[in-house]
Amino acid sequence: MSGKYSDKVAVITGGAKGIGKAVASRLVSGGASVVIGDINEKLGQLAADEIGCKYVFCDVSIENDNRKLIQYAIDTFGGLDIVHLNAGIASGVTFGNENTIEAYKKITSINLDGVVYGMDAAITQMLKLNGGKIIATASIAGLMGLSLDPFYTVTKHGVVGLVRAVGPNYLSDKRIEINALCPSFVDTDIIAMAKEFLVQANFPILDVSDVADTFEQILESNQSGNCWYVIPGRASEPFNFRNIPGPQ
Ligand SMILES: NC(=O)c1ccc[n+]([C@@H]2O[C@H](COP(=O)([O-])OP(=O)(O)OC[C@H]3O[C@@H](n4cnc5c(N)ncnc54)[C@H](O)[C@@H]3O)[C@@H](O)[C@H]2O)c1
Repeated sequence: MSGKYSDKVAVITGGAKGIGKAVASRLVSGGASVVIGDINEKLGQLAADEIGCKYVFCDVSIENDNRKLIQYAIDTFGGLDIVHLNAGIASGVTFGNENTIEAYKKITSINLDGVVYGMDAAITQMLKLNGGKIIATASIAGLMGLSLDPFYTVTKHGVVGLVRAVGPNYLSDKRIEINALCPSFVDTDIIAMAKEFLVQANFPILDVSDVADTFEQILESNQSGNCWYVIPGRASEPFNFRNIPGPQ
């Protein structure tokens, strides 16, 4: 298919539904060759058939699954240009629950370890392949504390910190751009439990297409190390972090 991504190969984790599926669909519409990796085999294959891309089983919390996913894209399509590290869950618990520590370990293994493993697998290949663009889905909870889900907040702050630390260093010399998406509430299954409350409170909820729009803006920015907020009714842009005070 011809289009602005016609020579591009993209990998998307958590692409079976929600934000990842919307981004996969957008990239395929632009002509990209896309591989989605997801733990949900049924929905992953359905999404791939619907969109016109490939599906590979991948549990991002398993280091080697990330390597296999990236390698599959390279072997199948002969390159690697765009990697969207997007798979994630909410924990739904805070301190004082019976399963607090279990839930903490599970969410960090997916939302944080999964991004580190995916980034390592992608960068290892991109260093050999003349660069590429990595976009991690963090959250607005990477820029503020979400008291509803403190462990989710921990993981998303971790992703933001990782992107800010590693992103600027990879831009000029190695031609690898690393940025983060930081959406507010988006209409996907992950907010199912909170959706009624949000609707009743008249809190505006983003559509997955809003996030795909910002994803494309990041691709076009040719910058690295930025954390782009996606907020209803506002133009997306990189969040402007305050500098810490220098020594006196
Ligand atoms: N929906 C929101 O309000 C919102 C806001 C900000 C950020 N996010 C982030 O967006 C990302 C996508 O979430 P979504 O809203 O589309 O939710 P979703 O539940 O619709 O999609 C998440 C996808 O990740 C997959 N997944 C879960 N665990 C996995 C694992 N171990 N390995 C591989 N795949 C796995 C799921 O099967 C699913 O396909 C997540 O990182 C989430 O934290 C969502």
